[in-house]
Amino acid sequence: MGLFGASKSILGLDIGSYSIKAVVLDQVKGGMVLNTIGQVALPPEAIIEGTIQEREVVAAAIKNLLKSLKVNLKNVCTSISGYSVIIKKITLPKATRDELAKNIEVEAEQFIPFDISEVNVDFQIIGESSQSEDQMEVILVAAKKEVIDGYVDLLTAAALKPTIIDVDVFALENAFTHTHPDVRETVALIDIGANKMNINIIKDGHSLMTKDAAIGGATITSEIQDRFNVDHHEAEAIKMGGRDAPDQEAVEEIVGRAVGNWVAESRRTVDYLEASYPGEKLTHIYLSGGSSRLPGLDRYFQQELEIPTSLFNAFEKIGVNQKVFDPSYIESIAPQASICLGLALRRGETL
Ligand SMILES: Nc1ncnc2c1ncn2[C@@H]1O[C@H](COP(=O)(O)OP(=O)(O)OP(=O)(O)O)[C@@H](O)[C@H]1O
Ligand SMILES: [Mg+2]
Repeated sequence: MGLFGASKSILGLDIGSYSIKAVVLDQVKGGMVLNTIGQVALPPEAIIEGTIQEREVVAAAIKNLLKSLKVNLKNVCTSISGYSVIIKKITLPKATRDELAKNIEVEAEQFIPFDISEVNVDFQIIGESSQSEDQMEVILVAAKKEVIDGYVDLLTAAALKPTIIDVDVFALENAFTHTHPDVRETVALIDIGANKMNINIIKDGHSLMTKDAAIGGATITSEIQDRFNVDHHEAEAIKMGGRDAPDQEAVEEIVGRAVGNWVAESRRTVDYLEASYPGEKLTHIYLSGGSSRLPGLDRYFQQELEIPTSLFNAFEKIGVNQKVFDPSYIESIAPQASICLGLALRRGETL
């Protein structure tokens, strides 16, 4: 689902608060192959709560990343999430996409807590309603214009052409349906980054429910910083086990508390799913995002939520030339690049 149009070759750019990721795919006869992948870290204060605080810093980081990757593509697909994006599943009288496009703003108004003039609205028709033949189910997406404008300005400052502004949870879904086209059951995709957690529960390849929460791995880093009086980089190294902590037990306690919050948020979403759709059962959880790299996180989710859980490998169905890309690099970056891969997959799509 894009809030703008679409074009052919596209640069997938995930502008995260911890790092910016870039992916380009090439379409070949047998499917998609990886053309480019890379990421660049951002200073922690550059993007706060999904809002770009330091446009010049972020634009320069994007330019540097693309230069080092030798990417000349201008058309870019990026995504947004958080409180400024409203995603709602609604039921409307049956209509074609063109018919609905004409009056979506009128239909949407009652479902959106913002003034309709302040948002860009998009939608996707899911299919006939299970309740009535005359009705259809539609996913409605409304995003604050000021937030979209912020991303458009940023990308323009980075000499790029914003072509599709997607939503994180749908980019994740896009990556998942590409790797698992035949999965019909109800599964949860959970991406845990630095400052946010995106949840998308999908059934039959379509979103049933989404949730964004402002939690992620950054709290672990900042608590380690405070506890041991170290800087951001040292704290990251301690968290990732690359540096010994002065007190390992204290680190485990900090990690345990954060992970406990992620599990609790996931549990609330699962409970809400079961309350909203009686009889619905989640059969699997797929974790992604940089924080999913915490050792044993999948096992912990599985144990606490009693739902089979695994890490999502978004690159499973992407051809990767091992002479060009180091397999261990791809393996390590893959969880963090799931959303970005979903964005790069938007190439050539007409929405
Ligand atoms: N090996 C690892 N072990 C534990 N945590 C890790 C590891 N690698 C990365 N992280 C953590 O993952 C987080 C970054 O993840 P990611 O790149 O998905 O975030 P982001 O997309 O930039 O941010 P957000 O989407 O939250 O704005 C950081 O908190 C980082 O410390
Ligand atoms: Mg992210």
